[in-house]
Amino acid sequence: MKVFLTGGRGMVGRAIQDHDRAKAHQIVAPTSAELDLTDRSAVMAAVAEDAPDIVIHSAGRVGGIQANMAHPAAFLTENMDMGFNVVLAARAAGVPRLLNLGSSCMYPHDAPNPLHEESLGKGELEPTNEGYGLAKLAVARLCDFVSREQADFSCKTLIPCNLYGLHDKFDPAVSHLVPAIIRKVHEARESGSDTVEIWGDGTARREFMFSDDLADGIWQAVARFDDLPGVMNIGLGHDYSINEYYAEAARVIGWQGHFTHDLSRPTGMKQKLVATDRQTAFGWAPKTSLQDGIAQTYAHFLDLTERGEA
Ligand SMILES: NC(=O)c1ccc[n+]([C@@H]2O[C@H](COP(=O)([O-])OP(=O)(O)OC[C@H]3O[C@@H](n4cnc5c(N)ncnc54)[C@H](OP(=O)(O)O)[C@@H]3O)[C@@H](O)[C@H]2O)c1
Repeated sequence: MKVFLTGGRGMVGRAIQDHDRAKAHQIVAPTSAELDLTDRSAVMAAVAEDAPDIVIHSAGRVGGIQANMAHPAAFLTENMDMGFNVVLAARAAGVPRLLNLGSSCMYPHDAPNPLHEESLGKGELEPTNEGYGLAKLAVARLCDFVSREQADFSCKTLIPCNLYGLHDKFDPAVSHLVPAIIRKVHEARESGSDTVEIWGDGTARREFMFSDDLADGIWQAVARFDDLPGVMNIGLGHDYSINEYYAEAARVIGWQGHFTHDLSRPTGMKQKLVATDRQTAFGWAPKTSLQDGIAQTYAHFLDLTERGEA
């Protein structure tokens, strides 16, 4: 198939292109410098010219809690503009299928865990990432609306749980939990420090899937697109406490100090675990253990560090 992939240089976009199944397809993946997805007319022209069999929308402004709290307006407008432009361009160009990537931040703050797709849009979003969550929700709703309006355009949304993996961001200003933990524990080991500070009490629970697993799920979704529900979570089906992520990283990195807790820091939602009933019915499950995923991510971080790029 001819695949138009947005966000091809991002963590997920690279995992999609590095996956074995990518070899069977012709993939066009413009960078943001080549195609600014917030520019509607440029996106319309690019998608029409490429005339793909499917669009995979994996671009986004993505960041951790600090970046989200500092720039809610940019997280809202950029993600909304990119999503609307890509979906509407695909529709205008007569592309038959589009796979959109959402985020578990789309779920209401007080939705019961595990988060079932039926809870979407049924309550206030988590304030620390409201701009991002609102944009993701609006784009997923647009996918649903256009699919209902037009029988020959099928536009579906996968909602990944939190992710980590190769090509993750290790810069503390924008990093997510797992790369931030890897960097902190690595630096403690390098500096000989015997303590590492954790924000909050570390009991909040999070579900982090290895990005290569998401790529595998995405290719499965592409291959069996008609079997896919309009909206489907994609995740591990179980979660770990923040303290457990730190402990696993310390084991992988070989650091034997102890952890302290800064209770004055924000930690976001108590739990964010996506329900995997639809995923199980679809017939897919992730394969990578937490230990293996952290080990592969740490090896990548060490490579970047050696090249002075971490
Ligand atoms: N990371 C997670 O934990 C997570 C969890 C759930 C869902 N998701 C979703 O999965 C998708 C991929 O995330 P990721 O982690 O791969 O993100 P990422 O590593 O930050 O990559 C984001 C990509 O978006 C592209 N992009 C940003 N602004 C753009 C613009 N104006 N025009 C064109 N391209 C633009 C970037 O392109 P350039 O590199 O060319 O600048 C980059 O390749 C996103 O939709 C995200 O919301 C991520």
